[in-house]
Amino acid sequence: MDEPSGPSTARMIDFWLGGDDHFPVDVAAARAFEQAYGPCAPVFRSLRAFLGRAVRHVADAGVDSFLVFGAGVPTCGNVHEIVPQARVLYTDLDPVIVRHGQRLLAGQNRVGYGFGDARDVAGIDPALRERFLPGWGSRPVGLVFLGLAAFLDDDTLAGVLDDLYEAVAPGSRLAVDFDTEELAGYPQALAMMGPEFRMRAPKEFAALLGRWQPTDDGIVPVARWRPDGSPEQVPDAFYGAVAVKPAG
Ligand SMILES: C[S@@+](CC[C@H](N)C(=O)[O-])C[C@H]1O[C@@H](n2cnc3c(N)ncnc32)[C@H](O)[C@@H]1O
Repeated sequence: MDEPSGPSTARMIDFWLGGDDHFPVDVAAARAFEQAYGPCAPVFRSLRAFLGRAVRHVADAGVDSFLVFGAGVPTCGNVHEIVPQARVLYTDLDPVIVRHGQRLLAGQNRVGYGFGDARDVAGIDPALRERFLPGWGSRPVGLVFLGLAAFLDDDTLAGVLDDLYEAVAPGSRLAVDFDTEELAGYPQALAMMGPEFRMRAPKEFAALLGRWQPTDDGIVPVARWRPDGSPEQVPDAFYGAVAVKPAG
């Protein structure tokens, strides 16, 4: 793949996770961010571990197909690696990330990558939807919505989550996270995220979930969502939850 013209947050995360799918421009941006914030690898490892626990929990509830929004690079413990028996459709808005993801997943039967704007779930290619999410709207599905809320304003986020609730079958589950106000303690790092970047307090975020019902685990720092053993000692930069569209 040719060197991209600018960094992407998704490839910076790949760098912090120890992956192979980033470029010097991403490493430079990641290092500049760390100068302003501090070490990021432990924070993103903890967030990826939450993804793993959340997706396993959803699969254990009997869900066998997943739609991933703002998916970024589909490696380093991503959804299809956690539940290899499931069907997984990764989507992202960034065409460079989508092409990269398609190359990484070429030849896989149960896993695909397509263009998708989370603000327009109906715009996802119907052929991809039929192939990877059979029975969409009538069979429960797992929605993965991680690393994305910060890029959507409150009205848009609430509207997107409500549209998704309406579109999916009862019994579907949503794994979701959001950026807390912790980053406000690092003004230079916050400025690097741009003026549209949104941090939220847990109460504010809970209201945006609308009809989605968080499991009894609640909306908590991701390291403390059903931890395997002692939670990682990392800043509470991200809170997360799994929420359900109740059956019946
Ligand atoms: C911070 S990265 C998160 C990547 C991955 N989900 C993770 O948690 O490691 C955010 C990703 O969301 C994508 N994105 C931003 N706005 C989006 C939108 N409206 N719809 C779909 N993807 C979007 C970006 O292109 C980027 O790849």
